[in-house]
Amino acid sequence: MPNDASIKIDGKEFPYPVMIGSEGEKAVDVRNLRKDTGYIFYDQGYGNTGSCESQVTFLDGDNGILRHRGYPIEQLAEHSNFIETAYLVIYGELPTAKQWKTFSDLLRANSAIETQMQRVFEGFPKDAPPMAMLSSIVGSLAAHYHQLATNNFEKDLQQFDLAAAMAISKIRTIGAMIYRHSRGLPFLHPKDLPFCDNLLHLMFSEPYQDYVAIPEVTKALNLILLMHTDHEQNCSTSTVRMVGSSGANLFTSLSAGINALSGPLHGGANTAVMNMLQSIHDEHDDGTRFIEAAKGGSKSNRLMGFGHAVYRNFDPRARVIGQACDVVLKKLGKSDPLLDIAHNLEQAALKDDYFISRKLYPNVDFYSGIIFRALGIPTNMFTVMFAIGRTPGWIANWKEVASNPKGRIYRPRQVYTGVVKRDYVTIAKRS
Ligand code: SDX
Repeated sequence: MPNDASIKIDGKEFPYPVMIGSEGEKAVDVRNLRKDTGYIFYDQGYGNTGSCESQVTFLDGDNGILRHRGYPIEQLAEHSNFIETAYLVIYGELPTAKQWKTFSDLLRANSAIETQMQRVFEGFPKDAPPMAMLSSIVGSLAAHYHQLATNNFEKDLQQFDLAAAMAISKIRTIGAMIYRHSRGLPFLHPKDLPFCDNLLHLMFSEPYQDYVAIPEVTKALNLILLMHTDHEQNCSTSTVRMVGSSGANLFTSLSAGINALSGPLHGGANTAVMNMLQSIHDEHDDGTRFIEAAKGGSKSNRLMGFGHAVYRNFDPRARVIGQACDVVLKKLGKSDPLLDIAHNLEQAALKDDYFISRKLYPNVDFYSGIIFRALGIPTNMFTVMFAIGRTPGWIANWKEVASNPKGRIYRPRQVYTGVVKRDYVTIAKRS
């Protein structure tokens, strides 16, 4: 690569190569900066820093473009389903009929949670936060299957294939069990059903009566999980890569990603959006107070479901999900006053200079809760559903880290601004 960039430090020029990605993104390769100059770059939150090369997802935040392995999210939303897109992001290609069957068989064969593992739930109060339970129980998969999903899987791809299918299938089942546990309901066994039908069965069936989802419901659930499959180097995916870079196994890395996703600025936003819309509805107001509070700049008052660390345009997923809301509600013969409130809030914010000047648009979380609610999923389970949807993307990124023979442990530097050197003082001399 040509040395197209140079950095002048203390009067001396230091040339650095420019990397150009397959979509034309440019990066200055400064892997040798500290060795050459003794300097590091400071980039709080890594907004200007590429931590890796990746072939899974391409995001163009300025133009609102999202593609998984080259396929536009709009086309996957229209033609694909969650498990097919999961295969695509993990293995790089849409599955052939034979690959689809092998993958589906692995998912089915690994959908149950062993009785011994089910006992983990006994340690959680019914009102425990669902994401705290999810990360704990997914972490315990590493205890139960510690020979699996280690970092040397490239010697035995079956091991990875099995671990990946186990993670996708069992995290779905664990999510449903968390729902049942929080309501004091008995756990159910998975059936020989398609992925989303099984999720709805595991959540909503009764011992005496199976829940049989209508096609519109499973289609909507497939769409919403598909829209969450992967999203480049977001906070939780970067966390999975960070943990995986130490050689930690897949399940441990996924548990770390779940913890990162639980934050209200990340995956927890879908729950926060619904609580915001419900509050506007209950107060019979137009949401102006939320918009005005959000303009105060405090992180705790932000307009949830708005803004994005990368998109400076509409989040394409918000467009697709926003359009699907009307279709799903109509097909289910339901209406939801919160959807009208969401539309009005979006229109009001998009006319407000504070949001326009900062290029703040609805993101994936702004409308997703409307669909989850229409499917009968309670608000405190929304982020668990996000985690079920994001699991294939996390697995694909973990695989890139674990299978990289030239990979290095992630170890960012810092600028130390603490107290400079001083000598120890005995307690008798401390004032
Ligand atoms: C997800 O990264 C991903 O890809 C994440 C995700 C994925 O699929 O993995 O897309 C999923 O996490 C979506 C985001 C869900 N979070 C929310 O909806 C919470 C509300 N949004 C914000 O907290 C915020 O927009 C973030 C956290 C998403 C991004 O935060 P940044 O990168 O700090 O925002 P920024 O630097 O672009 O902010 C620029 C300005 C700041 O104001 P000034 O300092 O310039 O005056 O915009 C303001 C921010 O205060 N701002 C907001 C705002 N978001 C940014 N002000 C009010 N309401 C908001 N929502």
